[in-house]
Amino acid sequence: MKLTELKNNFHKELEGAQDNKALEFLRVKYLGRKGVVADLLNELKNMSAEERREAGNKINSFKKEIEEAFEIKRAEIEVLGEGGQAKDWFDVTVPGVKHPKGHFHPRTIVMRQAESIFQSMGFSVADGPELETDWYNFEALNIPKEHPARDMQDTFYVANPAGGSDLVMRTQTSPVQVRFMEKNNPPLRIIAPGKVFRREATDASHDYQFYQVEGLMVDRHISVANFKAIIAEFFKRFYGDKVDVRLRPSYFPFTEPSFEIDISCVICNQKGCSVCQQRGWTEAGGAGMVNQIVFENAGYSRNEWQGFAFGFGFERLVMMKYKIDDIRLLNSGDMRFLKQF
Ligand code: DAH
Repeated sequence: MKLTELKNNFHKELEGAQDNKALEFLRVKYLGRKGVVADLLNELKNMSAEERREAGNKINSFKKEIEEAFEIKRAEIEVLGEGGQAKDWFDVTVPGVKHPKGHFHPRTIVMRQAESIFQSMGFSVADGPELETDWYNFEALNIPKEHPARDMQDTFYVANPAGGSDLVMRTQTSPVQVRFMEKNNPPLRIIAPGKVFRREATDASHDYQFYQVEGLMVDRHISVANFKAIIAEFFKRFYGDKVDVRLRPSYFPFTEPSFEIDISCVICNQKGCSVCQQRGWTEAGGAGMVNQIVFENAGYSRNEWQGFAFGFGFERLVMMKYKIDDIRLLNSGDMRFLKQF
């Protein structure tokens, strides 16, 4: 009888407890060393052995009941908040949680600028596969097997599980030239930006995976002068009026004649710095007048068309634009680096 009353009281009091402080007060009152349960246990010593066993069981189950009820109440306060009112209202003036916004990779930002400059000069953007056949990457570009020019580009060769043609991770974007010309007739102007792969060790200016921008313009009467005008205009729009372009004689199997494209160093304005190795000029890429053999391999008849082609490494341009001194940062995925753009 007395126990039933105690239980009722306990549950009523627990109901009223709204915060951790009230809960702790009740815990001491009921389970503390001089608490209700302790008092009850104390009375056992005045009982006969039989009475004691029965009462002891009841007191123990009361104690368990109290402990479980405390656990539930404690969890309730944690979820609802002290005072138990949190679910009933909210403060509309509290600022919302900001969702972090993503942004473009620096290479993407600069690539879009480059694409739009070429597009404004009538070039469209083409692309091709990164896993390429030996034919498009080499043979069609007048680089037969065993040709020493293959050594210019260390290649990842890929086994072809289906048998058939040899596969490579493309070492250059030049294969897009032939792929595009097979499907399109001149006059044409394209750029083909994309990822290329070279089997070589990395350092601050080399990565085994990087981007190139290929260019191709074909028509009846295209000259080196047309090429120089277009590429000079591109770099002026890309870096600003001060930049100068020069062509140096070079060799590529798919162009004749061939050139190396140099641009004046935009870091030091030709005064000499570590980026241009005190030369005042940096190599931007290769170019030339399309070899008639390449036209033939794409299905055009010999000597009917003239064109220029060029290809430059894109990371170098990004690095000069943002004054980045290690190419590997661009593929690092390091947020401390990427957040700066
Ligand atoms: N594909 C060459 C390379 O990766 C660059 C190049 C040179 C592209 C001359 C061209 C070109 O289109 O005409 O080194």
